[in-house]
Amino acid sequence: MILDSATRRTFMGSLAAALGLAGLRPSLEVFAQNREGRQRQPGEEHPEEDYDNMAKLANNENCWGPSDAVLKAMNDGLKYANRYQYPSGGIVEAIAKHHGVKPENVLLGAGSGEVLKIVGEAFLLDHKKCVGVDPSYDSVYRYVTNSKADAIKVPLLKDYRMDVPGIIRAAKMNYRDVGFVYICNPNNPTGNIIPKQEIKMLLDTIPGDVPVLIDEAYHHFVTSSDYATSVPYVLEGRPVIVTRTFSKIAALAGMRLGYGLAPKELIERMRPFGGGGLNAMVKYGGVAALKDTAYEKKVKQMTTDLREKTTKDLRAWGYEVIPSETNFFMVNVGRDVTQVAEDFKKRQVLVGRKFPPMNNWLRVSVGTEPEMSKFTAAFKEIFPAGGIKPAKKEAASS
Ligand SMILES: Cc1ncc(COP(=O)(O)O)c(C=O)c1O
Repeated sequence: MILDSATRRTFMGSLAAALGLAGLRPSLEVFAQNREGRQRQPGEEHPEEDYDNMAKLANNENCWGPSDAVLKAMNDGLKYANRYQYPSGGIVEAIAKHHGVKPENVLLGAGSGEVLKIVGEAFLLDHKKCVGVDPSYDSVYRYVTNSKADAIKVPLLKDYRMDVPGIIRAAKMNYRDVGFVYICNPNNPTGNIIPKQEIKMLLDTIPGDVPVLIDEAYHHFVTSSDYATSVPYVLEGRPVIVTRTFSKIAALAGMRLGYGLAPKELIERMRPFGGGGLNAMVKYGGVAALKDTAYEKKVKQMTTDLREKTTKDLRAWGYEVIPSETNFFMVNVGRDVTQVAEDFKKRQVLVGRKFPPMNNWLRVSVGTEPEMSKFTAAFKEIFPAGGIKPAKKEAASS
């Protein structure tokens, strides 16, 4: 079993020793500053004292942790802990080879979040605006407004699909002011995709000089044949930036590694804004993760199975769930989720925060089997009456 390996113990032991030497310990001030509903930043400590014992279904992480091959590679990288100019393990070349691009088309970041931030900084100079759907991964909109630019947010359609014609209209109407278009595919928090034909329509229709940022953080979990990665558009030389992360399928959220792929000219515009201060271990881990496709397959299967089992239970209990292509899903609980999340927390289950305007929709990440059982049990306690009952036929077949 992955979690019990000697490699894992050696790695975790070395890491704990390294952190102990650095004198790192919790800072309570960070917690005090936390406002209701604010998304915490990677690396910010979690405020729950009992964090280790809680079912962690709030942040779309990979509950199974990195593969043994990745842990071993990171352990090997640890020997450079005392160096400034350590070897990189060939991470940029490995990413370039993986996608059939050149190293000049790759920009590394401490998580793909850093690359998203860099895109905001590089393409929103002169108070330009970003166009995207709402709700989506709102860190992007936050970076945008922090850099004194603005976001033009296009609401989701009634069935929660992303409104591509609406994005095209907004980009055309505001053409002079648009710095870039942001697409999250699959979308966070709804978990659904933009079909490949619609991505093509978007790229073929919007003004040719507007960069399109396509965030594929959840790419590896998709099963729908209507979906396709947008990396081929980068290869064609279109003004497209695709971001990927090692935080989800590779389970390296705490180690911080992601990247952007784009034509050389766009990467060159982005590079001065950062993207480089990565630790030695994660670079080695990233190279191993790209090779470990068997582990990716296993994580995808376990995630899909548990997501489908849990959502089937919720639907049978009378609740609407948005079909998801990711390691999380949204369920309509029929009332504001802020208090609902508190109710879950009392039962040792951490769930997603509120994503306005979908105030009654709870986002739940897929956790281990015991975590999902804990979630379902808590759900039935919090909503003992069930939701709108499904039609008899459906109830009988579920
Ligand atoms: C859609 C999306 N993009 C980007 C990120 C950032 O991830 P990271 O910085 O860990 O790569 C996340 C994190 O949850 C996400 O959901």
